[in-house]
Amino acid sequence: MSDNGQAQDTVTLTIDGKEITVPKGTLVIRAAEELGIIIPRFCDHPLLDPAGACRQCLVDIEGQRKPAASCTTECGDGWEVRTHLTSDVAKKAQEGVLEFLLINHPLDCPMCDKGGECPLQDQALSHGTGESRFVDEKRRYNKPVAVSEQVLLDRERCVLCARCTRFSNEIAGDPFIELFERGALEQVAIYEDEPYRSYFSGNVIQICPVGALTSASYRFKARPFDLRSAPSVCNHCSAGCNLTVQARRGEVQRQLARTNMAVNETWNCDKGRFAFRNLTNDARLREPMVRRANELTSVSWSDALQAATAAITAATDKGAGRVAVLAGGRLADEDAYALAKYTRAVLGSDDLDFRTRLGADDEPATLAAVAARPSATYADVENAKVVLVVGLDTEEENPILHLRLRKAWRKNRTKIVPVGPREGSLERYAWRRLPTLPGHEGVALAAIGRAMGHANLAELAAAGNYAHRDLEQVLSDLRDATGDAVLLVGERAGSHAGVLAAAVRLADDTGIKLGWVPRRAGARGALEAGLLAGALPGGRRLDDAEDRAAVEAVWGELPSTSGRDARAILEAAANGQIDVLHLVGVDLISDCSDAALAKKALDKVGTVIVQDLASNATTAHADVVLPVTATQERGGAFTNWEGRHQHFRPAVEAPRLAQDDHEILVQLAAYQGKDLGFGDLDQIRAEMASLPGRETPHAVPEPTAPSTTEDEGLALLTYPLLLDRGTLTAGSADLLKTARAPYAATSPATAEAIGAADGDEVTVTGGDVELRLPLRVERGMVDGVVYVPTNSTDTSGVALGDRVTVGRAAAEVGA
Ligand code: SF4
Ligand code: FES
Repeated sequence: MSDNGQAQDTVTLTIDGKEITVPKGTLVIRAAEELGIIIPRFCDHPLLDPAGACRQCLVDIEGQRKPAASCTTECGDGWEVRTHLTSDVAKKAQEGVLEFLLINHPLDCPMCDKGGECPLQDQALSHGTGESRFVDEKRRYNKPVAVSEQVLLDRERCVLCARCTRFSNEIAGDPFIELFERGALEQVAIYEDEPYRSYFSGNVIQICPVGALTSASYRFKARPFDLRSAPSVCNHCSAGCNLTVQARRGEVQRQLARTNMAVNETWNCDKGRFAFRNLTNDARLREPMVRRANELTSVSWSDALQAATAAITAATDKGAGRVAVLAGGRLADEDAYALAKYTRAVLGSDDLDFRTRLGADDEPATLAAVAARPSATYADVENAKVVLVVGLDTEEENPILHLRLRKAWRKNRTKIVPVGPREGSLERYAWRRLPTLPGHEGVALAAIGRAMGHANLAELAAAGNYAHRDLEQVLSDLRDATGDAVLLVGERAGSHAGVLAAAVRLADDTGIKLGWVPRRAGARGALEAGLLAGALPGGRRLDDAEDRAAVEAVWGELPSTSGRDARAILEAAANGQIDVLHLVGVDLISDCSDAALAKKALDKVGTVIVQDLASNATTAHADVVLPVTATQERGGAFTNWEGRHQHFRPAVEAPRLAQDDHEILVQLAAYQGKDLGFGDLDQIRAEMASLPGRETPHAVPEPTAPSTTEDEGLALLTYPLLLDRGTLTAGSADLLKTARAPYAATSPATAEAIGAADGDEVTVTGGDVELRLPLRVERGMVDGVVYVPTNSTDTSGVALGDRVTVGRAAAEVGA
């Protein structure tokens, strides 16, 4: 105990005469905040390590000879601290620092993007002396310097706070931006031969306390006080980043990360920040259309809905199974629920799927079981001792989860263990690795379960005796973790029979917290809404009498048997067994993991109804086009990978004729003489609330063993990078310039076997495509596998799991 009787892990001090007790190690600036005293600062940021770079936060501490930086000074017991509010010493020190900072800072606030929201401008006004004694010429630099295609630097405005460089080093782990030189010449710069390539670069623009870093796409577009703001949630991936969408004259000008410490903290990725130009670009669908004389022709809503209804009625008159519904992962929760009900209660069909990735046969039943289970959270990941990662390349597929994993690795020494054929973005952070062939991850998980004394994975364990030199160490780490372990499973795990089921069983048996991490923002909401053949809302199943009765009490009579999933729907369509395919928010040709099958299906189906935002490869096959509103133009909610429901509000008006997805479904139902039972968001939400999740989740199917047949060629591993040719990034030109170029990746041994080295051009041949790509040799890949990003180049002829041939490309002659 200390003299004043307190436990030694706290200290008591006064700041401006107010007493406060804080944990030892608390910075003076944070303790002052707790008392409501805001000390001016530039370099301080609560999520960055203290730097003491700008000296703006000086305070007067009784007994100390000179003012101290409150952002680097830890509180001491018995201290009397006085800030600029009560101490002339602190006030004079802060004014002096501000005057120095302004010596070389241009007075260009009227044309600086930061003007109106600039901490330097604010503090010069609130704490500055009001006039400058500096009469010499200010420092000048050529401007702006393109730090990347998306981030511009005006060096003369920089106050050298190092927020940007610390963010890049500490948070993103992309240390390409640094402070160079010393003294008056000190400046932010990038390495000459290494451009600033980071999926998180936009955060440095947001946290720069002056207008030194600005966005190429927002520069000179608006003043902050001219913007209208709306709270929103990012629609690009399942991370659930909170955003502020800001618009001027009805057009979105920028999207900023909004602080939610439980989710995205105060960050977001560049896709979420910059990819909104699709709202206004030429591809945007603005009016309903119907195909007439082989041309899509603009029509009224009633004509379009009548055309859709006529096709649906003709198909259903022929008998069951002639109409099917496929949805993408961009739907708001309410729309997903409306579509799940519409398909069952109006079409009388259970042929529907929200997955464009064609999964294994056991995936729908496993997913229905996942829907009712609690999920791991960001906090679980941050505090975990061990995190196993299966079928998930975090930086490419869920960038904010990647930042949280990196934070756990950096701050808490969390042991990250990728399981599977490729570590991807986790290669730098992997503590141990459990490599497997694609589709064999379940065997490794079964081996863990068995070694931890659980026989529930017997069949899988018998199928393969997984052995790896790191397995024993991982097991011992998991035993030590006792409850603080997380298993993150990407949606790709569902592409191979047995993998997702093995993950759920391992979590059930051992208490490891499971997080199912789909790519799309609406995927978890779609799953919880029952937008999947055989699944019903809340993790219920159509083939369970009790579940069925619970849903029938709200929806009315349901189809008698489970329907077909996406693969079966597309196969049936390609065989001429489906007359109407209703696509809601899905560009089947770009997004489906078997584009060749998707094309065959679209060619064969009599009527393709497309309900979407923009024209794309799939709308070329449409017979009826129904334009919809975008996330920024409407209200709704997304459920992120953790199962967290978050609402978003409209920021701008939608194109005049676009409608929300659920509004279209309500009208389609009415045209077919049915009443969906709701009309607006509130009514849908009330009905959703009447069907909460199952209390006892269903058991997952027994995991099946992977096939072990040895085929010719290499196994193709493919999934999209964060920035690809997707519909939602269309029109965001500056952002797309930062997209990673497509490449092929193999292990060193596989590269040697094909006679190629890192950087060589190789050909990847499979189906009817031959791709020519630079080879990237990755230590963290298993032999016999090649990774090629989906949809960054024309990969539409090959699919995950295909066998492909890879060879060194012949040199171009005469090039
Ligand atoms: Fe700070 Fe901005 Fe300069 Fe970076 S560019 S050091 S964030 S003032
Ligand atoms: Fe304390 Fe910059 S805020 S030194």
